[in-house]
Amino acid sequence: MKQPQAITAILQQLLEQCQPLYSQGKVADYIPALAKVAPDNAAIAVATIDGQIHTAGAADKNFSLQSVSKIFGLVMAMNRIGDDLWQRVNMEPSGQPFNSIVQVEWEKGIPRNPVINAGAILVADVLVSHYSASKSAFLTFIRRLVGEENIYADQQVYLSELEHGNRNAALAYLMKSFGNIEAEVPDVLAHYFHQCATAINCRQLATSLLFLANRGVQPHSNEQICSRRDAHRVNAILSTSGMYDQSGEFAFKVGLPAKSGVGGAIVAIVPQFGVITAWSPALNSFGNSVVGMQLISLFAEELGLSLF
Ligand code: DON
Repeated sequence: MKQPQAITAILQQLLEQCQPLYSQGKVADYIPALAKVAPDNAAIAVATIDGQIHTAGAADKNFSLQSVSKIFGLVMAMNRIGDDLWQRVNMEPSGQPFNSIVQVEWEKGIPRNPVINAGAILVADVLVSHYSASKSAFLTFIRRLVGEENIYADQQVYLSELEHGNRNAALAYLMKSFGNIEAEVPDVLAHYFHQCATAINCRQLATSLLFLANRGVQPHSNEQICSRRDAHRVNAILSTSGMYDQSGEFAFKVGLPAKSGVGGAIVAIVPQFGVITAWSPALNSFGNSVVGMQLISLFAEELGLSLF
């Protein structure tokens, strides 16, 4: 593996190389509060399981976690209800946009996987039904993983999602009509939007997910966050579905479990090595960050990180 200084120098050089791509994407505007972020922002961070952290760009600048939050919700739900979860949500790629409704109707209220919106709303139902205060439990979980307290839900983004969340509400009510949502839909949606609105930076995000690269154990605290089997299962789902309809292309080009969010973040897990996070808000038509994809792709290629 490269020396630490070499990794930082590579990140810096990749960031400069990717800057011309800022203009190729479009910042998400279907959640109006997200549209305010300037597109010419980017950062990359690499946290390793032996405790190093390398960054370039705005790695301490907060962004909206959005769909990357689905990983944390999933781990919490797996820990809480175990294999019962897989009676209510599947583990197959969807082949549909992340917020598609038709498949939920065809498949009788069972979402294809836990990282499309329908699946994450189902997971939110599990959390609302099994925690007395699921929103704060979610934030406590991330803070514990990072080892820092300054992680919170951005109220402006949260309210903006609540106000413009009709499609997610449609998904939740559709699943409820099939008997696959237990709690009241407004409570489930409030949890889901709140977790999506988490404000975090690249350095914190890379640190938080190290347990997925380390068989379920968070290296800096030595705490078992989830079982080894569940860490492998989350990585499997991220490999097949984490980049939505671009998951195949991402596996082909990068070869790592990964998850994107419409706030412009992408995380990639490198088992036994660490976590790469990239952030840049302008998205392609699949809802994945243009610069983020390129940064992770070039870095993984440079270090030969593909699992395949
Ligand atoms: O529910 C939504 O549509 C957003 N809060 C999250 C979607 C998202 O991040 C999809 N990722 N690419």
